[in-house]
Amino acid sequence: MDEILGGRRMRRNRQTDWSRRLVRENTLTIDDLIWPIFLVDGSGIRQPVASMPGVFRLSVDEAVREAVKAESLGIPALALFPYTDPDLRDALGTEALNDQNLICRACRAIKAEGLNIGLITDVALDPYTSHGHDGLMEGPLILNDETVSQLCHQALVQADAGADIIAPSDMMDGRIGALRIALDANGFRDKQIMAYSAKYASAFYGPFRDAVGTNTTLIGDKRTYQMDSANTDEAIREVELDLAEGADMVMVKPGMPYLDIIRRVKDTFSVPTYAYQVSGEYAMIAAASANGWLDGDRAMMESLMAFKRAGADGILTYFAPKVAEILRRG
Ligand code: PBG
Repeated sequence: MDEILGGRRMRRNRQTDWSRRLVRENTLTIDDLIWPIFLVDGSGIRQPVASMPGVFRLSVDEAVREAVKAESLGIPALALFPYTDPDLRDALGTEALNDQNLICRACRAIKAEGLNIGLITDVALDPYTSHGHDGLMEGPLILNDETVSQLCHQALVQADAGADIIAPSDMMDGRIGALRIALDANGFRDKQIMAYSAKYASAFYGPFRDAVGTNTTLIGDKRTYQMDSANTDEAIREVELDLAEGADMVMVKPGMPYLDIIRRVKDTFSVPTYAYQVSGEYAMIAAASANGWLDGDRAMMESLMAFKRAGADGILTYFAPKVAEILRRG
């Protein structure tokens, strides 16, 4: 064997825990975590999301409690998503513009705690529309430009309620530039924009649509605005445009099936790049773990390290509080 190896033994560095730590190339820290939270009307409510074991829809008071906990764990930011009462949904997504909607109330309530934690709000109409699409419709078409002006209004309402990072997930063309102009013109020059730049039309969003109640309402699919999973160059073009229009941070979504995109975006642009480990990715690990088919905690930590290896600066993950607790314990 020595003749073959000539002294080159890769296992030498792996012998001990201290040596493995010494040669480790990537690290996952609590600073990498963004925790997506689902909101629901009422008080004292923690409604389990069936397809996401361990995830709950929270009323605002409960969300405040979790925000306090997240801050004490050291999680840098929360991303808020509403389950809108079906009675409040209409074809135009009017509730998105209501400055007393669930998202705005949650932002104000969490901000009132004076926590050292960032609030990210989703800009898109799907939780508010009766048809479940991210934009306004005319017949079967999703209207781009009309939607963008609606999104600007939505973002202003969120910014006014205290959102720190405006995160458009709608995939309309030109929305980053339009949002930047609208925010700047209304006294929100310092609000950051995290663009869902490379967002693919994905089956992995299934459980999220369950959580926000769009799984039964969605007419058709989102392929005329979200990206085709076969494409890579197009993701680069999307990121390039969003950066040119003023995005402060970009995102690739879903996460694990698109690690190649994260790597290419990071290498090409060297800007803050985030990955969204989406609901379906969470559900797969949670379900297999519940069945005893894999070690859930280890699979979770391994999946998050994969994002770091791919070059992500942070990860939106429903596992965030659990991961933070594990990292705290060391
Ligand atoms: C909607 C939105 C979606 C997600 C985040 N924002 C779903 C969709 O585009 O249909 C998915 C997140 C997840 O699956 O965890 N604009």
